Amino acid sequence: MPAPSLDILVSLCKRRGFIFPGSEIYGGLANTWDYGPLGVELKNRVKKQWWKTFVHKRPDMIGVDASILMNAKVWEASGHVSNFTDPLVDCKSCKSRFRGDKLLEEKIGVEAVTVLTLDQIQPMLMAEKIRCPTCGKVNWAPAKKFNMMFKTHQGVVEDDAALVYLRPETAQGMFVNFKGIIDTMRMRLPFGMAQIGKAFRNEITPGNFTFRTREFEQMEIEYFFDPSASSWEMIFEEWKKIQWDWFVSLGLSPTHMRFREHSKEELAFYSKRTIDIEYLFPWGWGELAGLANRTDYDLSQHEKCSGQEMKYTDPDDPTKKFLPHVMEPTFGCDRSVLTFLLEAYTEEKLPNDETRVVMKFDPRLAPVDIAILPLSKKEHLLAKAQELYKKVMQETDLVCDFDVTGSIGKRYRRQDEIGTPRAVTVDFGTLGEDEKQGERDTVTIRDRDTLKQERLGIGELIEKLKIS
Ligand code: GAP
Repeated sequence: MPAPSLDILVSLCKRRGFIFPGSEIYGGLANTWDYGPLGVELKNRVKKQWWKTFVHKRPDMIGVDASILMNAKVWEASGHVSNFTDPLVDCKSCKSRFRGDKLLEEKIGVEAVTVLTLDQIQPMLMAEKIRCPTCGKVNWAPAKKFNMMFKTHQGVVEDDAALVYLRPETAQGMFVNFKGIIDTMRMRLPFGMAQIGKAFRNEITPGNFTFRTREFEQMEIEYFFDPSASSWEMIFEEWKKIQWDWFVSLGLSPTHMRFREHSKEELAFYSKRTIDIEYLFPWGWGELAGLANRTDYDLSQHEKCSGQEMKYTDPDDPTKKFLPHVMEPTFGCDRSVLTFLLEAYTEEKLPNDETRVVMKFDPRLAPVDIAILPLSKKEHLLAKAQELYKKVMQETDLVCDFDVTGSIGKRYRRQDEIGTPRAVTVDFGTLGEDEKQGERDTVTIRDRDTLKQERLGIGELIEKLKIS
């Protein structure tokens, strides 16, 4: 059961240390979010699973980590300087600014909006009587192109020669390294490059928690192939399935996901075909990931603009030199984390009529693997529990939490709310002081989802945890 509302999730994230509002002690900075101790573990695990699936488990993939700051010519060549724009509209009454297309989407639908030209946006806003979300008036200025790239200057002189952009996508870091990779890594087509990293977009209307922010992380793949040897349609279908399956394998319900094909008018300037994977967020369907056939657009642009040859030479026929085409499966990292959070959120009625909130993360994503909970604060019991805590940390690769604050029931609730799959209780039985609780050197392990409890010897527990 996904979270019933975004507010409920935002509040849990803050209360439990997943995600905090950015710069909060200074009154915040709109739409910035900081991952707290549990959030960073969750996000790192999402990235780890992604890297494992798409880099380590595939002989045809390699990873890179390119710079965020790149030569400004990269963005001229890629088309971002002239084309990476959104239609900005001003409310003439209150001077608030919005994305004209987004204002219209709710009223007339995405498909109808994508066919509109820039000049048609303001007349349509007026015709549809779309009110300004700030002042409620219908008084729009004509739409203008707004480039979403953040600009800054490199070095001490703030002139045009020092202008650099914060990358709006990680993809270009892979294209500009294509030549270096084929010269050094003995890769044969088809092969892919993968990268995880920050991207920046000066979004006109960020919002919905971490869904749309100006600083975010992407997990992107550029999969190069020979268009004369492979059918792009087949490669497209393969990646579509692989991307979908990755989300499902980590816990997203297929009933909360759908594909959305981009119409011709909506296609990005570099794409021959694009499909989004959308997720049913609490406010409606929204893009989670995408797949685009970028053809040889980027490599040919970089060849033209840099003067460097970007062609691939067929190792079986050195006379065959060509620009490979590229398929681009792209995943929003923060959006993935958000969907895993939403999907994990579960409210359950217990037999005593209480409701427990439990984050049912896939155990591979849960920020804490196991919690050690001493039944009481008595010193000798604490010492035994701490001994076990150290043992688990030293002898296994698990992230282990030690929690002694509050009643045992409260501590179970807390671990449920952060999604810890297993909790181990150390009691007076463990110490050999109360046979009713259990035998000496045994502990109780509780399963987050089934609530089943099992009594295990400490040695047996450690062996089990080593292989889990
Ligand atoms: N290289 C292709 C590319 O950047 P995109 O659809 O613009 O394509 C890829 O972005 C993914 O990045 C999206 O599917 C989405 O998950 C994520 N994304 C895009 N803009 C975002 C934003 N402002 N905040 C958070 N995630 C964003």
